[in-house]
Amino acid sequence: MINQDRLWNDHMAMAEIGATAAGGSCRIALTDDDKAGRDLFVSWCEAAGLAVRVDTCGNIFARRAGSDADAPPVITGSHLDTQPLGGRFDGIYGVLAGLEVLRALDDAGIRTRHPLEVAVWTDEEGVRFGGGCMASGVFAGMYEEADFLACTDTDGATVADELKRIGYAGTVPCGDMEVRAFFEAHIEQGPILEAEGKTVGVVLAGQGKRLIEVSVTGEEGHAGTLPMELRHDAFVGAARMVVALNELAFRFDPVPVITTGHVRVKPNSRNTIPGGTLFSIDCRHPAAETLVTLETEMRRTMEEIAAEAGLGVDIDTVTSRDPVVMDPGCINAIRDGAERLGIPHQDIYSGAGHDAFSILEMTPTGMIFVPCEKGISHNEAENAKPEDLAAGAAVLAEAMVAYGEKI
Ligand code: HGY
Ligand code: MN
Ligand code: MN
Repeated sequence: MINQDRLWNDHMAMAEIGATAAGGSCRIALTDDDKAGRDLFVSWCEAAGLAVRVDTCGNIFARRAGSDADAPPVITGSHLDTQPLGGRFDGIYGVLAGLEVLRALDDAGIRTRHPLEVAVWTDEEGVRFGGGCMASGVFAGMYEEADFLACTDTDGATVADELKRIGYAGTVPCGDMEVRAFFEAHIEQGPILEAEGKTVGVVLAGQGKRLIEVSVTGEEGHAGTLPMELRHDAFVGAARMVVALNELAFRFDPVPVITTGHVRVKPNSRNTIPGGTLFSIDCRHPAAETLVTLETEMRRTMEEIAAEAGLGVDIDTVTSRDPVVMDPGCINAIRDGAERLGIPHQDIYSGAGHDAFSILEMTPTGMIFVPCEKGISHNEAENAKPEDLAAGAAVLAEAMVAYGEKI
């Protein structure tokens, strides 16, 4: 039923927008490239006869009517925004697989009682604003809309300003609607399915996350005249903290993942001793109680280093998300769909975060993984096979029709 070539060609057409030199994608949230990607997706939805609406957080919904217009929709979807050196499939696959399911059901003349929708969640990656998955979090009632709209990028532009600027400041209230179920298809972003020779991963659970912003304060000085023993170098202090946290990780079993991916040095001049350094800590673990202990230990470690070095340190937890468990009914619908189609599948856990982790707060939610080459993601070399993308979409169709009630 799924048109494999149409699904693949859509990915390649989308990948032309914000294409990077090494074959990846750069469509950072609410930039002109993100707008162009959104516009292309909306044009495809309108060409497929879907009713498109945009909410006040810029989330896009394209609806395929059911026989009962008042029945709550079954929604699928993911994100079109990418990492700065991202791939052509992270997020994009979940959006385009959803669109392909709706078009394939039309081609097959299959109708459902519940409306079916494909959604694009704003700023899943959190590269530019906030902590990631915030727009889906507002939809699910986890965050206040005003807080998300007020998030600023490093130039001070707010989400609200940028939504208006790109023409995606919708009028439909964000959230506050009944949803029958939500399914997200996504590349695994890890090596397991490929190594096991499986085509579909039935996601059981996902790890929790702390996103922490740290500000280290020292004292600017002349790089040539101030003796080493008199310095209060904020970057050296930050670097010692990052190394210490990476050593701390190995005191836990299973070992958490801790990443510092964003660093800003002030004044960022080659011959001035840094008086300030801002850096991020992305820490994830499958156990809620371990995350609590980790956060306490990380704070204590950084404060000790700061005290010893005569530096100031301010530690702000931006995102605090517990591990999640997917809905058993949705898990079974995905598993049964793969069985019916004879598609090799296995249960799997998600190391990455997804918008589905927000939506499961308000409706039964499941996730379908497909392999990506060598598990590579958040990397321009991210790749997937057309037949795997199509197989995942076919299982997605089975799950959506199961919840949508075929008529
Ligand atoms: O960070 C994540 O886990 C997701 O890829 N945004
Ligand atoms: Mn993603
Ligand atoms: Mn991602």
